[in-house]
Amino acid sequence: MKRPILYHPDPRLKKACSAVDDVSDDLRSLAKDMLATMYDAPGVGLAAPQVGVLRRVVVLDCVKEEGETPRPLVMFNPQVVAASDALNTYEEGCLSLPDQFADVTRPAEVEVEWMDENGKPCREVMDGLWATCVQHEIDHLDGKLFIDYLKPLRRQMITRKMVKFKRELARG
Ligand code: NI
Repeated sequence: MKRPILYHPDPRLKKACSAVDDVSDDLRSLAKDMLATMYDAPGVGLAAPQVGVLRRVVVLDCVKEEGETPRPLVMFNPQVVAASDALNTYEEGCLSLPDQFADVTRPAEVEVEWMDENGKPCREVMDGLWATCVQHEIDHLDGKLFIDYLKPLRRQMITRKMVKFKRELARG
């Protein structure tokens, strides 16, 4: 079931999320809802705080090509355990900041550890869009948005646009 996505600025998007000890049925159903919400948007990643749940849960699927097999990943407590010196700049966006995009530079390759929906520990080296996306989503769990990498003036400009967007949305 789809859940409503929170838009910046929202205090819940600035909070550090708490770790998951055991993968309960509630958390599995949260992850399922998050995947449905992400695919519907459509987006390549979504973090639990974006649907108002302050737990360390991320979903992603960076397979974007038409006709390719989707690869939905559900990650509990994801963390970057190693990062390359090589960097990659990618024009990022975020489902919590519709229509806002900006170049962000991050490590090009990261090794990530997480727990899957069965509580099984996983580890994978990611590059390309997967590396960018997983780092962007993990940032969300620490209350960090991609605009936090931008110069203050640019960030304020985007935030002003978002305040206006939310005001218009509320007016209907
Ligand atoms: Ni995002």
